[in-house]
Amino acid sequence: MDNRPIGVFDSGLGGLTVLKEIRRILPNESIVYFGDCGRTPYGVKSPETVRRYTFQNTRFFLEVGVKLLVIACNTSSACAYGPVAGALGGLGVPVVEVIRPGAAAAASATRNRRVGVIGTAATIASGVYVDVLGETDPDIQVFAKACPLFVPIAEEGPGWWDHVSARIIAEEYLGGLRETGIDVLLLGCTHYPLLGGVISAALGGGIMLVSSAQAVAAEVSARLGALGLCAGSESEGGGGVGSESEGGGAGKAGGEGGSRGEVSPQIRFYTSDSPEKFEPLCGAILGEPAGACVQKLDIDKYESRLP
Ligand code: DGL
Repeated sequence: MDNRPIGVFDSGLGGLTVLKEIRRILPNESIVYFGDCGRTPYGVKSPETVRRYTFQNTRFFLEVGVKLLVIACNTSSACAYGPVAGALGGLGVPVVEVIRPGAAAAASATRNRRVGVIGTAATIASGVYVDVLGETDPDIQVFAKACPLFVPIAEEGPGWWDHVSARIIAEEYLGGLRETGIDVLLLGCTHYPLLGGVISAALGGGIMLVSSAQAVAAEVSARLGALGLCAGSESEGGGGVGSESEGGGAGKAGGEGGSRGEVSPQIRFYTSDSPEKFEPLCGAILGEPAGACVQKLDIDKYESRLP
């Protein structure tokens, strides 16, 4: 039994779509989430910049003392998974990224082996989805399209996710994919499930949307189980989103940093921008208030080199 928290991060709100799924299947796990809203979007920046941000985020989670790190951002996964997994592997902290689980889910969902992939400019330019899907099944044909404006729209909040402007942009990005004969569209950005309605509408019928969230949560569960890192069952006295816990500094994020004893699961949120802006958006995505457990994080104070 190990009640240290799982770390989850994204450039902003998108990783909450992954956190939600982890929480659904692993309700006993404490989670510390960092949304780098002060520096979002990552996907239009250079791979070097994305790596630097990702390394700083990783440093924060090492200070927290997480037992497993989830890179809930395709762009960070595409640009920096290898070095992060290498450095943390040496420290005994497993790392789960979002690209391979999502690609595996898309490969098993397609019937005609024509798979669309949408993501940020950096993710699509990296070619990682073409490579990983090709390794999974060399007969899969991949039709990739960068959709950079979806991230800022998603970050604007629920009022924009189904807005007419989002529909026009989705039509512009996705109209061409309709003609390719794909039967599956992989959402290669963790923000995109928030725009699932407009994305489906732009594609018309007959194309299944696949997000990586469920597959990533299953991977987290499998890794924790295989490594004997699962949390104990929830003790008396509540816990969950919004629960207060002792401590609260980065080293105690989640209220249980480093502890392996029996405690209630805690969810704590950090953002590099305004907690007041983050809190209602977080609540809208998770379907429950994030409350007082959203804290501001000065991410610039963390080293941009891996240990
Ligand atoms: N959610 C991030 C991803 O999956 C969005 C990246 C961005 O900030 O552009 O790639």
